Amino acid sequence: KKKKKIAIIGGDGIGPSVIAEAKLLLELYQERAGLPIDLWELDLGADRYLRDGTTFPNQIQIAIQRECSAVLLGALGDPRVPNLEHARDILFGMRFGYDLYANVRPVRALSDRLVPLKGRTAKDIDFVVFRENTEGIYVGMGGQFKRGTPDEVAINEDVNTRKGVERIIRAAFDYARANGRTRVTMADKSNAMRHAHELWLRVFHEVRAQYPEIQSNHVYVDALCLYVIQDPGQFQVIVTNNLFGDIVTDLGAALQGGLGMAASANVHASDPARVALFEPVHGSAPPLAGKDIANPFAAMLTAGLLLAHLGWPEEERRIERWVSQALDQGMCTVDVGGTLGTRAAGAWVREQIAAELGPP
Ligand code: NAD
Ligand code: IPM
Ligand code: MN
Repeated sequence: KKKKKIAIIGGDGIGPSVIAEAKLLLELYQERAGLPIDLWELDLGADRYLRDGTTFPNQIQIAIQRECSAVLLGALGDPRVPNLEHARDILFGMRFGYDLYANVRPVRALSDRLVPLKGRTAKDIDFVVFRENTEGIYVGMGGQFKRGTPDEVAINEDVNTRKGVERIIRAAFDYARANGRTRVTMADKSNAMRHAHELWLRVFHEVRAQYPEIQSNHVYVDALCLYVIQDPGQFQVIVTNNLFGDIVTDLGAALQGGLGMAASANVHASDPARVALFEPVHGSAPPLAGKDIANPFAAMLTAGLLLAHLGWPEEERRIERWVSQALDQGMCTVDVGGTLGTRAAGAWVREQIAAELGPP
């Protein structure tokens, strides 16, 4: 049987160190469980860009699309590259280039201890955000006019297409249906952004009619931020645009114990056979880089999402269960209340999984 090829890009800052832990986890699965995967490490990121000007070569972009089932990415962003040219080329080169229109970001707390809300426990924090990933304000349309003068104007257009809005809303409902979730919430700002978001509202009402067994509601995104803190348990699946999804999932990360705990998948939801991109929600956290203190769990949980996507959902659950144990036993990094370094926390989880899997 043909092996599934996974491209690995550590990237910048803490990216390489957290991805190293996730990669060792994938290697453990290769060796102990015989998972037919092939790992292909790519040298891309700020170091490479500063060395030879390479950001995301066309041949690499195409090779990944042709040969790989998935990409595991750390994070991109380095203070030595202030315009973030390489980061946008690589990240958007995959999200837009591979048309990965659903950025799926589970917001799930894995230990009561990490829930920052008074009177709430981990079971209250369990929803999934479907962030539109190929449109909105991220398309880069617009420009600067009369630059440097007192009359300067800077514009970024918010681009929303009928097809783009419909497919992400549909992806959220399909996910709910397939995963026994009973409620979908759509968040927009249709009261202020009339044209674009009236489209969202209209398409939402059309699509929801086709999923009569699923309850659904619409909230304005500002109110969503309020309700997510006041009563997170009411949310199961949230669907929203690119920018709001970015913001709401950092808010969500706070409910999970911080960005060190938040995983994500970027998929072309209607055709899972296409290459998909997996990355923690966090960035490169430059102040933490090279100190063995970054939390590797977001990256390891992301590897779990990757394995589930490739057809091994029980391994995602196994990883989640042992990360949860690590948190309960304090075998974790300082950001989540432990004392271990990046490598030791990663190693503890892998040792438990190795023991459970048994000899090769
Ligand atoms: P960040 O996610 O890097 O950091 C935000 C906060 O979370 C910081 O306090 C940081 O210390 C903490 N944090 C993040 N990951 C952590 C981890 N694994 N363990 C412990 N603490 C962690 O966001 P930022 O500071 O706004 O951005 C830094 C750089 O990363 C920027 O260049 C930004 O553009 C980039 N970025 C990249 C991605 C990506 O590649 N997908 C995502 C977000 C930000
Ligand atoms: C994320 C990040 C990116 C985004 C940045 C680095 C462009 O914040 O993946 O959440 O806004 O999508
Ligand atoms: Mn973000």
